Amino acid sequence: MASFRCLFVSFAACALGKLSPGEQPLPSIADSGKKIFDKIAAATANSVDGITATVQSNPLQFPLLTDFWCAYELTDRKRTPALLIDDMQVEYADYVHGIVPQVKLLLDVFREAGLPVFWSTWWRWGPDDGFFNSMDRFYGPVGWNTSSNSLYNHKRNGGDVLPAVAPQNPMEWRRVMHKSYSLDMFDERPMEWASPSDQGTLHVELQKLGVDTVVQVGAWTDDCIISTAFHAFSLQYDVILIEDGVSTASKQHFNAIEVMRGALAKVLLAEDVAAYIRNGLPVLEAAPKAKLAGSRAQPVERQAASLLAYKADAEHQEPLSAVSESISVDAAMRLVFAVGCTSIFSFVSGWVLRGVLSRKMRDGDTHDRQYRRFM
Ligand SMILES: *[C@@H]1O[C@H](CO)[C@@H](O)[C@H](O)[C@H]1NC(C)=O
Repeated sequence: MASFRCLFVSFAACALGKLSPGEQPLPSIADSGKKIFDKIAAATANSVDGITATVQSNPLQFPLLTDFWCAYELTDRKRTPALLIDDMQVEYADYVHGIVPQVKLLLDVFREAGLPVFWSTWWRWGPDDGFFNSMDRFYGPVGWNTSSNSLYNHKRNGGDVLPAVAPQNPMEWRRVMHKSYSLDMFDERPMEWASPSDQGTLHVELQKLGVDTVVQVGAWTDDCIISTAFHAFSLQYDVILIEDGVSTASKQHFNAIEVMRGALAKVLLAEDVAAYIRNGLPVLEAAPKAKLAGSRAQPVERQAASLLAYKADAEHQEPLSAVSESISVDAAMRLVFAVGCTSIFSFVSGWVLRGVLSRKMRDGDTHDRQYRRFM
């Protein structure tokens, strides 16, 4: 306090014209409020009542963090999958155009195989549209009639399914739902089918079709997708998340994917699932599980294929169908081979790493000393 006052006095002196070269005068507002401050300070010097700082316990007080990922493979058992296309609609065109080729690939494959596809579109145009709910409260009233408030559609046809991935016949149109109350495609309360007949909820419809596995694509990763994934999981579906088939407007895309990967979803690329279905949904003997890899490790070969598709995308309108045509034929075989190689490699490196890790933990102190000496 004393030294602070000295500093203040010297600054005041400076302000009176005794500035050394390069010194700035003290702004006149620097000590405004000091009187009120001193009064409160005198009364509360020894009390923390109302102090604007807080501490909490750090819940992560254990030495090792654990990553989890899905234990099953698509090919572990017989499956009846359904494709869920979430909110691929005109309003979100800017945010989803990059995933259209992957969604279209899966849509084509599901159609070819006669497997069911369901669509949702977000169906809100303002707080007075009759659907006011917790989501309005969350997004708030400010700017509701501007595109900065993302809860509502602002384009007249914003709720239409994007033409590239839209239903094509009356049966498909009956599988389009209008969502107005919740992020979640499985919401059982006032969800409306676009062309109602005698459908039940999405869950009821999927059960009628014997579906046990849902394949999720669309928008938005950190809202509707993650919400639908958790509900599907609760309803006992295996959830396949298409990593290159979901998108969002926020920076939480990758965080949301990692949460789903570690909590409930088998995370795959569109071409993985396309190859699996085009190969007739085979049931294969389970490969030994990798110790330190799983779907968190991308085979190098796969990355190359993605890059290829991306380059094709830059050149053509319909890139993936062409690329997938050539890769789908033997993709499953290569997949099995790649998984086998990865598993063996991971198993070996897992044991090596395990040794290094446990030695590191034993030699922790020594290591620190060495590090300090090195400094
Ligand atoms: C919302 O915006 C549109 C056009 O931007 C305008 O025509 C309409 O009157 C606005 N509605 C309200 C309630 O302000």
